[in-house]
Amino acid sequence: MCGIVGYSGPKEPLPILINGLSRLEYRGYDSAGIAISDGNKITVEKKEGKLDVLKNHLKDSNIKGNIGIGHTRWATHGVPNDVNAHPHSDNSEEFAIIHNGIIENYAEIKKDLLEEGFEFKSDTDTEVVAVELSRKWNGQLLETVTDVAKTLEGTYALVVTTTKEEGTIVAGRLMSPLVLGVGENEVFLASDSAAILEHTNKMIFLENGDFVEIKNGQYKLFDSELNEIEREIQEIDWEVSEAEKLGYDHFMYKEILEQSEVIERTISGRLETTSKEIPIKQDEASKYEKIWIVACGTAYHAGLFGKDLFEKVLGVPVSVELASEFRYREPIVGKNDLGIVISQSGETMDTIAATELLKENGAHVLALVNVVGSSLARMADSVFYLHVGPEIGVASTKAYLGMLVAQLLLAKHWDSQNKLDVSFDEIAELPKLIEETMDCEKQIKDISEKIYKKNDIYFIGRGLDYALAAEGALKLKEISYLHAEALAAGELKHGTLALIEDGTPIIVTASQNHLLDKTTSNVQEVIARGAYVIAIGDNQSEKLENISDEYVTLPDSNEILTTVISIIPLQFIAYHVANLNGESIDQPRNLAKSVTVE
Ligand code: G6P
Repeated sequence: MCGIVGYSGPKEPLPILINGLSRLEYRGYDSAGIAISDGNKITVEKKEGKLDVLKNHLKDSNIKGNIGIGHTRWATHGVPNDVNAHPHSDNSEEFAIIHNGIIENYAEIKKDLLEEGFEFKSDTDTEVVAVELSRKWNGQLLETVTDVAKTLEGTYALVVTTTKEEGTIVAGRLMSPLVLGVGENEVFLASDSAAILEHTNKMIFLENGDFVEIKNGQYKLFDSELNEIEREIQEIDWEVSEAEKLGYDHFMYKEILEQSEVIERTISGRLETTSKEIPIKQDEASKYEKIWIVACGTAYHAGLFGKDLFEKVLGVPVSVELASEFRYREPIVGKNDLGIVISQSGETMDTIAATELLKENGAHVLALVNVVGSSLARMADSVFYLHVGPEIGVASTKAYLGMLVAQLLLAKHWDSQNKLDVSFDEIAELPKLIEETMDCEKQIKDISEKIYKKNDIYFIGRGLDYALAAEGALKLKEISYLHAEALAAGELKHGTLALIEDGTPIIVTASQNHLLDKTTSNVQEVIARGAYVIAIGDNQSEKLENISDEYVTLPDSNEILTTVISIIPLQFIAYHVANLNGESIDQPRNLAKSVTVE
């Protein structure tokens, strides 16, 4: 939700800002802007629309300076337009500010400021902070920013510069992410490390309440009381090329295709029973009385897969919870419980709040996250990284697969009684299996041609296959804007069957042999109502294959691995259907990759 970038150093800021913003566009893309200061004046340029509009607007400009800040927006307060785009300024245009988050008490502050005669151009909460900085100016930027920050309620990553204190940037964070990149005599700021990785791999992940003062490419860190503090510099081992499109039309497509390679990393060093990489050992895991899996969106769907596995191997109840709901009820969490929070970004606001709730109730929290050093990784008691590299496409693909595999690994390590019918050697074959599954793309493309004009598409499955169906439906709707819905196959007859008519596409995931007959009966029921059936399963599902209009045969493998790889045809369906409909794929309308607001 909004991407932030900043630069102080000897280079020209403009190309650095634009480049950084292009890597952050997944966080919001309804407008973009930059502010560059040459010490005397701040030049602000901002435009409604995707970053390309701003880029085009700036193509002949030669804005020079020694510090700069940039922003790509996902609107919360105020429609997307040029005026509401960031950076925002005060009435005398002496401050420029960018913000990610929501200032909840902005209306009260604005009322005061209006009464004192200050004026406002935009409808945003952020402009209020810019104006407030000018009202509270006390001759020193760091002090003024921390003073104002104390009065703000809500969440923020704020980056401020002013002509009143030449060459200085002050930034601070509360709940929204902010990373400081440390180079040779230059300093970068960004919402995530991938945005500045081409300049430095040395990062400081600011903690809540941290502020940083940047002058001439040097930085100092402070707490909110202005005590100077130190934070560890972490070296990030992601390759810059992983955040590049490398000639592919879309990040999503590249991220689907690279899944074999990235899953190799997810499992690497984690297949030996003695692996030190497993954050919670079997004897400890077996002591928990209940497991809460809490997540949002795709990560929640991954949690549905983990539930069955953990219940099977540990014999304790597992509850999978939507973080946005969990945090507002009174779940009966005990101190002998384990919370497993799942998140690609590690920055999703609802998941962070749910983690706080788990911790307050004394549960041990294990975070399954992809982004190293992210908020959830730092808050959790234990961390298990997905290691799938930066994911840029808004529709999550490789991170979802990483979440499935991470949970499979944990379940396997916690399986003291060999209840899971899969060996470490078989899991080691997963990258090869994923690669082989990519061969289904041609068939999926043909199938997509047949269904892309439909308005409603249903996904059905039972057990773990239902978890996969839920993710398949989400993928399709978020990038193709078609109505897609997932159902536990046995539930169809309790209502949704009424919607099935001639030609309605039904996508069936059927990887588990013990449920095959039941699923096949449900397929018969939709066929009887005229549905067009596309089934995905292995080569042992002859009955289902015979009655389906299309059958996607997955490579031969262990059953649970067949379930895991079933997501690949579903990802291809979403991608090709959206592509045939001419949709933007990597930046679906109204969405953002990292949701740092409630
Ligand atoms: C957003 C993204 C989804 C993602 C969800 C949770 O809605 O568009 O793709 O699944 O947030 O994100 P997280 O980073 O916590 O996995």
